[in-house]
Amino acid sequence: MLLYDKIQETAAFISGKITHQPKTGIILGSGLGGLIDLIKKEAELPYAEIPHFPVSTVEGHQGKLVFGKIGNTQVMLMAGRFHYYEGYSMEEVTFPVRVMKALGIDNLILSNAAGGMNKTFNIGDLMIITDHINLFPENPLRGPNDSRLGTRFPDMSQPYDKSMVAMAQEAAAELNIPVRTGVYVGLQGPTFETPAEYRWLHIIGGDAVGMSTVPENIVARHAGMNVFAMSVITDLGVTDVPVTITHEEVLEAANAAAPKMAAIVAAMINRM
Ligand code: HPA
Repeated sequence: MLLYDKIQETAAFISGKITHQPKTGIILGSGLGGLIDLIKKEAELPYAEIPHFPVSTVEGHQGKLVFGKIGNTQVMLMAGRFHYYEGYSMEEVTFPVRVMKALGIDNLILSNAAGGMNKTFNIGDLMIITDHINLFPENPLRGPNDSRLGTRFPDMSQPYDKSMVAMAQEAAAELNIPVRTGVYVGLQGPTFETPAEYRWLHIIGGDAVGMSTVPENIVARHAGMNVFAMSVITDLGVTDVPVTITHEEVLEAANAAAPKMAAIVAAMINRM
């Protein structure tokens, strides 16, 4: 079955389960599930019940779509994303973004946990992503291009929407929550980086590094969606002494910062 037809089938299935068309899509990263509490819920769909949807396998990811309102805005939220390191194909990793677009969503908000490489960063900092470097071994648009989904050679001069960045900064300032901005480097994982790799990623221009977000951003831009993304810095890669990192520490730091990120996202959505 063609990707296009799968997208239409899944979107039609979801449309049959909801009463309001969502306007904004949200994808939650590791440990950031707390954002769900912001939503006045209208419907929930476990991934396992959705045709053509892969099923999430990572600890700390819940695996469901949540529909409802944040303020006056109808949102569709993905609690738990699909990572390339889990073994999913790039098509599977980015399929939900395609479905969002087919449902009429034009604004996408992504969140993730990331390692900090900028020496001024601290654990628990929030970083608004202003640009990215794609170091995944495969581009999600590799292969024949279906022009119904987007153009063959997408422009990437504004991968993250400038007006959404400005709205988030204004919202954060009003809430008195400090935020950083920076460049996110996306690579496949699942290993965290070696000290030499962190240094290299910093030298090439990265402020934070993680294992998600970039494929979803690329597919969303291909589809003409506006994208906003924010990282929680859960560990620090560039320090004088090498530090060990565990998934548990990443989840703990992400959980601790989740309420701040939730507040900013809610305030931002109300401005959009
Ligand atoms: N590297 C890659 N991915 C991550 C990190 C990291 O240091 N922290 C959280 N996700």
